[in-house]
Amino acid sequence: RQSGRVAAAPPVIAVAEPETARRLTIVFGSQTGNAKRVAEALSERVAVEGLNVRLVRADRYATRELKDEQLLYIVMSTQGDGDPPDDSIAFVEFLNSRRAPKLPQLKYAVLGLGDSSYPDFCGISQRIDARLAELGAERLQEAGAADLDIETVALPWQDGALGHARKALLQTQAASAANVTPLRPKASVTREQPFHAELLLNQPITGRGSDKDIRHLEISLEGSALHYKPGDALGVWPTQSEALVERVLAVLALDGNEEVELGGTRRTLGDWLRGHRELTQITRPFLAAHAERAGSDALNALLQPSGAQALRELLESRQLIDVLRAWPATWTAEALLKSLRPLTPRMYSIASSQSVVEEEVHLTLAHVGFEVDGEDRWGATSHFLSNLVEGEKLPIFVEENTRFRLPDDDARDIIMIGPGTGVAPFRAFVQERAAAQAAGRNWLFFGNPHFSTDFLYQTEWQHALHDGHLHRLDLAFSRDQTEKVYVQHRMMERAADLFAWIEGGAHLYVCGDATRMAKDVHQALLQIAIQEGRMDDGRARAWLDDLAAQGRYARDVY
Ligand code: 2AM
Repeated sequence: RQSGRVAAAPPVIAVAEPETARRLTIVFGSQTGNAKRVAEALSERVAVEGLNVRLVRADRYATRELKDEQLLYIVMSTQGDGDPPDDSIAFVEFLNSRRAPKLPQLKYAVLGLGDSSYPDFCGISQRIDARLAELGAERLQEAGAADLDIETVALPWQDGALGHARKALLQTQAASAANVTPLRPKASVTREQPFHAELLLNQPITGRGSDKDIRHLEISLEGSALHYKPGDALGVWPTQSEALVERVLAVLALDGNEEVELGGTRRTLGDWLRGHRELTQITRPFLAAHAERAGSDALNALLQPSGAQALRELLESRQLIDVLRAWPATWTAEALLKSLRPLTPRMYSIASSQSVVEEEVHLTLAHVGFEVDGEDRWGATSHFLSNLVEGEKLPIFVEENTRFRLPDDDARDIIMIGPGTGVAPFRAFVQERAAAQAAGRNWLFFGNPHFSTDFLYQTEWQHALHDGHLHRLDLAFSRDQTEKVYVQHRMMERAADLFAWIEGGAHLYVCGDATRMAKDVHQALLQIAIQEGRMDDGRARAWLDDLAAQGRYARDVY
């Protein structure tokens, strides 16, 4: 990376320019994941060149940063006829509002995705493009409008965008090198300059015999000046396990001590793999490159449209090492590093409030693991974190999530739906509301497989109930009886009270699994409005949309 990450605080740093001058921000808005995929691909191409890039989903972008942003690319899909995707509604509203700042400092480019069978094809991205120009920003290239055959337009657009990024970022890099003025060390921690924090506690909170391995982690922020709010996420940069790096080197017959220079940085292959490349997830571009080298018909077949189902199964149940073993191929160190995806930090919802834990941050972490032919496979970061020993250090930073905030008005009631590790931010919420002696009531819905092994933070909830900091707790232990019981079933049982709380002004929060849970909970809320509010389907939807628009229905789902 161009700015270089420092292990210890340097005595003097010479940064005359703000971080934003040396960084590309890519904001994406995606309904079904296509825009996300295109944005990720662009981000990878930029990162591979050693340029500083951050990728942010539109609803996680703090719009007040816009006034300082220097280089911004927006990749946005179109919903229906010219509308923004759900995750971009607030971003678009902000841009169109009078609160949007003038943007003379900004250079930008927009790529839209859409379906040209609609009249207002790529309407939303076209309007964003025009609006940014109206605010005084400089358009680097024509807005792209990609049809269902996305790549036809997206690839040339990406090529152009990459060229502009290279130019803008390398220029400022040169300028800041020339502008060397001794400054006091800057305390600010960023994604690229994380804080090396000490792990204070790593404690299993699922019991023996559980199907899950969930940990409660406590991390020290002492000396970092880092601050966070309930609802924010903690970014963690993992290190790949030594065993996995060895396995990859062995199967490719490469030498970890070989030095490789990429984007102006020289490291040993081992160091590149340990700290800078994805070694667990399989990406499509890597598969395509590997298929070419392996010359395997079977692997090539997976990449054809007819192989889509088999490909999905491979991506879901296997990891990089399995691909390398199944389809032998020859790689040079440099080619390998260029094809593997750069390692990115993972985000965890913070499980503590600084009003209570002060210079600490807590996480609730699930160790994701499975076996392939008797050998362990894991998620890179959860494996890194769950094996971390108290006293060891980890590189962290704070990512704001302004879309997931407690009500400004303490007197409001809140309803929290957080099965599994989705409960994490609600521990922070309840801590914060207790410390503030908030007048509003707190209602938590929690679920997990078994009461005896998986009741996360059980004693804390019991104390909070006893002390009047938690007012209602509804539990769904899915596998303690023959029929599955989930949080949404408990919500339906409490439909009348839930509806009354919401109509009384309560804020609703959902955190956890996006693919099934959040959708089922959404359906339950519609059902509650239909049943208790005597609404028809259309009115129920409008009611829920309106709650979301008011910031009273917030989701942090993954
Ligand atoms: P299960 O694994 O027994 O099916 C946290 O992971 C909890 O969420 C578990 O109890 C899990 O149940 C449950 N869960 C799984 N699918 C769900 C869904 N669609 N809606 C709500 N909860 C779900």
